[in-house]
Amino acid sequence: MLNKRILLIVGGGIAAYKACELVRLIRKAGGSVRCVLTRSGAEFVTPMTLAALSEQPVHTSLWDLKDEVEMGHIQLSREADLILVCPATADLLARMAAGIADDLATTLLLATDKPVFAVPAMNVRMWLHEATRRNVARLREDGVQILDPDEGEMACGEYGPGRLPEPAAVLAWLERVHGETAARPSAIEAAPLAGRHVIVTAGPTHEPIDPVRVIANRSSGKQGFAIASALAQLGARVTLVSGPVALPTPPGVRRIDVETAVQMERAVQTALPADAAVLVAAVADWRVESTPQKLKKADGPPPLRWSANPDILAGLAASPARPRLLVGFAAETENVVAEAQAKRARKNSDWIVANDVSGDAMGGETNQVHLVTADGVESWDRAAKAEVARRLADRIAEQLSRGD
Ligand code: CTP
Repeated sequence: MLNKRILLIVGGGIAAYKACELVRLIRKAGGSVRCVLTRSGAEFVTPMTLAALSEQPVHTSLWDLKDEVEMGHIQLSREADLILVCPATADLLARMAAGIADDLATTLLLATDKPVFAVPAMNVRMWLHEATRRNVARLREDGVQILDPDEGEMACGEYGPGRLPEPAAVLAWLERVHGETAARPSAIEAAPLAGRHVIVTAGPTHEPIDPVRVIANRSSGKQGFAIASALAQLGARVTLVSGPVALPTPPGVRRIDVETAVQMERAVQTALPADAAVLVAAVADWRVESTPQKLKKADGPPPLRWSANPDILAGLAASPARPRLLVGFAAETENVVAEAQAKRARKNSDWIVANDVSGDAMGGETNQVHLVTADGVESWDRAAKAEVARRLADRIAEQLSRGD
């Protein structure tokens, strides 16, 4: 049963008529609905229809002064448990992705701190257009839950994905996904890392040789991304500074993409202050003097002039803004624990998480790590990277709570 207060934003598309049935179904399932109709939405269904079905006033304009006095747009979202955009047109998705707030619906969406769900419906070409795909990917990264449209014959006579799923299917999806995420808002209030800022670095760095070539390493970024995700799930504000990787941003995480070690260091320094930093990135120790022109084979093997990269971990440890808890990683191929202990002392890191990367451990889905602290060494069983991340995030939360 979906006994929630839903703020339903109805965009302008032929599928808007299905929103009427959806209102009826939500109410039948025990929920209440307050509708916001965009200007183009009102071309397809009338405020009167939605008001009658929802038994609530329908809002259409940001400039409706009566509404602003009686119930500001902030209040509208405050009084809802979640926001559902249905149908979400290509235009509405684009404006949401760009953070535009030029009418009541988009202003509400930008101002809300409630979970947002969107059900796109549009012509197949619009759905498959690169711009829409980009906008949908961006919104998903921002934490918006999006239901993929159905495939079938469309009102415009074409065939393919783009149809709004039947209202009963939309409701079932909403119940399921909201059920999964519902634990989050309330959990966050009591979350062990609420109010904490944690910086995480992840992935490799790429050091350019010339405009087309780089020196890189095999880090996939998976462990670092999993840690950022686990910390966010415990309520932390997470800044994830990532080298070049092919991974989606975990929900609720602020991501800064960089390429080189120097850029990574700058991004980390700019993100300070932080309560903790977890440096998982496989940072290149050296960079080479890169040439502005592509190196030519005919000129023979290039002489590479190397210089040392900044050590981000050691730099943070020595900084006046040193986070209270510094966690480094050490990927080793021999003497794993001894190397990690030496690294912990050398870099003045509070903890080092060490793992054995001989063989093909880098890029895999599991990890077997040793947690090296001032109190000694704990060897954890091999586990999925997400599980290692959860365990580490719990330990970080426990450690930070001790200092209060
Ligand atoms: N690290 C960093 N900046 C660097 C190099 C490493 O912040 N320029 C961090 C890594 O993110 C990791 C820890 O330091 O948390 C250890 O990285 P590692 O490459 O194992 O350390 P190195 O000092 O480079 O040691 P090694 O001689 O084993 O390469």
